[in-house]
Amino acid sequence: MQRIMDFLKSAGTYYLATIDGDQARVRPFGTINEFEGKLYIQTGKVKDVSKQLHANPKAEICAFKDGTWLRVAGTFVEDDRREARVAMLESYPELKAMYSPDDGNTEVFYIKDATATFSSFTAAPEVVTF
Ligand SMILES: Cc1cc2nc3c(=O)[nH]c(=O)nc-3n(C[C@H](O)[C@H](O)[C@H](O)COP(=O)(O)O)c2cc1C
Repeated sequence: MQRIMDFLKSAGTYYLATIDGDQARVRPFGTINEFEGKLYIQTGKVKDVSKQLHANPKAEICAFKDGTWLRVAGTFVEDDRREARVAMLESYPELKAMYSPDDGNTEVFYIKDATATFSSFTAAPEVVTF
C-alpha cells in the first residue's frame, strides 16, 4: 500500500472514473491520504462525482508516471467520521481555503476491496490487493 500511496503522490494527478447510469465519467483528482491503514480520497458532496459514488461505489483510478501506469479498482466507501475528514485536510492544508470538516460538504471515501495493478510496456503487470 505504501508503494501505491507513493506512486499516486508522486504522479500528482490521477483520474477517477465512476459510473453514471450507463455512462462512464472521468475527471482529474489529486487528493490521496493514508488513514488507519486505508487509502482515502476527498471530494465535495455537491459534486456529481460524489453523487455517482454514492449511487454506485464501484470506481477506478488511474495515474501515469515514468512509463508506468497504476490502476486501483475497488469499492469507494464514505467514512463519515470527523477524524477521517480532519486527517485529509491536515494532509492538504491548501484545501482548508475551500473545505472544512464541519461544512456539510467535505467528504472522504476509502477504497475497500482494492485491486491495484502496475503496468508498463516493458514488464508484466504487478497486482496488489488490499
Ligand atoms: C489536478 C486536479 C486535481 C483535482 N483534485 C480533486 C480532488 O482531489 N477532489 C475533488 O473533489 N476535485 C478535484 N479536482 C476537481 C475535479 O476534477 C472537478 O471538480 C470535477 O469537475 C469533478 O467531477 P464531476 O464534475 O464529475 O463532479 C481536481 C482538479 C484538478 C485539475
